[in-house]
Amino acid sequence: MSDILRYHAEQLFAEELEELRKQDTGKRPHNWLLTPQSVVTYLVGGKLKNGFDVTPKYIGSKRLMEIAAATLATDRALLLYGLPGTAKSWVSEHLAAAISGDSTMIIQGTAGTSEESIRYGWNYARLLAEGPSRNALVETPVMRAMQDGKIARIEELTRIGADVQDTLITILSEKTLPVPELNTEVQANKGFNVIATANNRDKGVNELSSALKRRFNTVILPVPDSMEEEIDIVRRRVESFEKTMDLPAEKPALEEIRRIVTIFRELRNGVTLDGKTKLKSPGSTLSTAEAISVVNNGLALAAYFGDGTLNAADLAAGVIGAVVKDPVQDKLVWQEYLETVVKTREDWKDVYRACRDLA
Ligand SMILES: Nc1ncnc2c1ncn2[C@@H]1O[C@H](COP(=O)(O)OP(=O)(O)OP(=O)(O)O)[C@@H](O)[C@H]1O
Ligand SMILES: [Mg+2]
Repeated sequence: MSDILRYHAEQLFAEELEELRKQDTGKRPHNWLLTPQSVVTYLVGGKLKNGFDVTPKYIGSKRLMEIAAATLATDRALLLYGLPGTAKSWVSEHLAAAISGDSTMIIQGTAGTSEESIRYGWNYARLLAEGPSRNALVETPVMRAMQDGKIARIEELTRIGADVQDTLITILSEKTLPVPELNTEVQANKGFNVIATANNRDKGVNELSSALKRRFNTVILPVPDSMEEEIDIVRRRVESFEKTMDLPAEKPALEEIRRIVTIFRELRNGVTLDGKTKLKSPGSTLSTAEAISVVNNGLALAAYFGDGTLNAADLAAGVIGAVVKDPVQDKLVWQEYLETVVKTREDWKDVYRACRDLA
């Protein structure tokens, strides 16, 4: 077990899910492992009656998680929508783990996603040998979720072509999947629902048809509200990364994380934290997820090529990589930020030097 690089949420948090289940006395929707209240506790964290601590997975509005969990208990599906790196996939995985105990029934939406990968396919060797039969049919994650009454996940829904997206309409409204070749159908069991994610940078790639839109309840995941919230997210994710990767590095100083998050927020918002200096924003997204990667990268540098303590030099390359995605425009934006903001901060001299040396 221990060589696996990334565990599924239901494996990693098996103990938490078990503790939640044990103290769960309320009414559960059919085939759910937990009550909606406990699902939300699992997501946002909390202390159980017996003193057991549930760690927060999603940091942000509890209300949003309540809306998401409640939606899944209705006949509408859930669409998590928002900027890149706002934890859409992360929340989707944890919701499926908490509700169905299985987050693996997933379809990655791409321009090449075909109807067969949503509905069902055929094992052609069998099909030729035996003719169409249930044995020759290849089930998709959606079909399995319907049969088992579980949650199916569709990632990046709007990257799937509009005609293929529409195969979901029957599944979501009639809760059935017709198999005309066998003159039969698969009817969904109670507990089946779909969580889809979509990224608003993909807007216009393939709009959701209005028929499909009506079958989804959309929950928009925002960029973290406050500085402290964002620092908290980065800190927690970096700690778990350090544990998984077994890095010979010290825990990063909160101050270093604060500086990274400051740079990201200032450039993202186009103004310094004190509101005094207007800045140009680069074309890059500068999401929390990228801030996490920058710190993780820095830690690896510190661990293997530094003294094991994260410092400005370990972070500089990562920050520039995250900000400067376009070698001309973004570079100018970054230079200006470096000279007008970073340089003037008394306690940021090390950041300035490290970044200037790389420029
Ligand atoms: N509010 C948040 N609470 C907890 N973790 C967060 C939050 N925002 C971002 N993260 C972290 O950011 C990382 C990236 O999130 P995720 O991959 O789910 O983003 P996404 O919204 O699916 O992005 P994309 O649109 O690029 O697919 C996750 O590891 C997650 O832990
Ligand atoms: Mg995602």
